[in-house]
Amino acid sequence: MTTAPSIEDYTPFSISPNPNTLHITPGLKAVLAKVRFTVNKRQGLCALLGDVGLGKSTLLRYLFGEYAANENCLTTLVPTPKFPSPFAFLKYMATDLGVDGKRSLTQQRDELERWLIDRYEAGKNVVIFVDEAQVLDNAQLELVRGLLNFETHTHKLVQIVLAGQLELREKLQSEKNRALYSRISTYSVLDPLTLEETGGMLAHRCKHESINNPFTTEAVEKLYVVTKGIPRSVLKVAALAYEMMLMEGAQTIDPELVSDTVPEVAV
Ligand SMILES: Nc1ncnc2c1ncn2[C@@H]1O[C@H](COP(=O)(O)OP(=O)(O)OP(=O)(O)O)[C@@H](O)[C@H]1O
Ligand SMILES: [Mg+2]
Repeated sequence: MTTAPSIEDYTPFSISPNPNTLHITPGLKAVLAKVRFTVNKRQGLCALLGDVGLGKSTLLRYLFGEYAANENCLTTLVPTPKFPSPFAFLKYMATDLGVDGKRSLTQQRDELERWLIDRYEAGKNVVIFVDEAQVLDNAQLELVRGLLNFETHTHKLVQIVLAGQLELREKLQSEKNRALYSRISTYSVLDPLTLEETGGMLAHRCKHESINNPFTTEAVEKLYVVTKGIPRSVLKVAALAYEMMLMEGAQTIDPELVSDTVPEVAV
């Protein structure tokens, strides 16, 4: 049984992928536009790539929330696609979408296709979000390719958003997955934050958590330099610096406090 977190567990700078805390930078705005284009125009596949801690899961959950709230869409999110076989992967997605379970890969695929045709005719757009897609093996990527073959003359019957670390790009670009790679409608690679965006993300968090922003301009500069603008690293240092500030009974976080924090955190 899980226990509800107590107030002592709380930090305004949590590293969980909470989509409500997403600070939309110009780079993210462009990524969102590309994903929305692929999904809304029913163009099939889009890939969201980036190094660790850059915000892929958060962005994926943000988009999932957006489409899940759209009454014309049916969605599923696969947070970690660690399945023993393509059939297990397919069955998970189908069941979560509400498709009847079948006993073989072929039957399940046929059932899903029938269901997708029905939904298409009813004007619904079906969107599958897959996080950690770098763990998909070639057989599972081949399954994804197969799903993209469900189509009309103009539209894909299912839209798929794959998010993954940079090794996913290598997998997609390998000879074996050329057919899938060529089906990617839009492709985005997340960048680290700039100095300005680092300050913006921290300010956004403080506003979201209804606390005063304690970071001085110099502290943000220091944070940016030590974390290279990687959001998860920024938040880890910020969380501990904030805790130390509270323990000292202080109101602001200066660069010295950030420097004291860095050795304690794996950035
Ligand atoms: N633009 C942003 N605004 C606010 N918070 C952000 C932003 N980008 C990332 N974060 C935060 O940084 C942390 C790490 O992000 P996330 O877990 O989404 O990264 P990831 O790319 O999925 O990492 P991994 O490759 O390890 O799975 C999360 O707490 C997330 O909310
Ligand atoms: Mg992630």
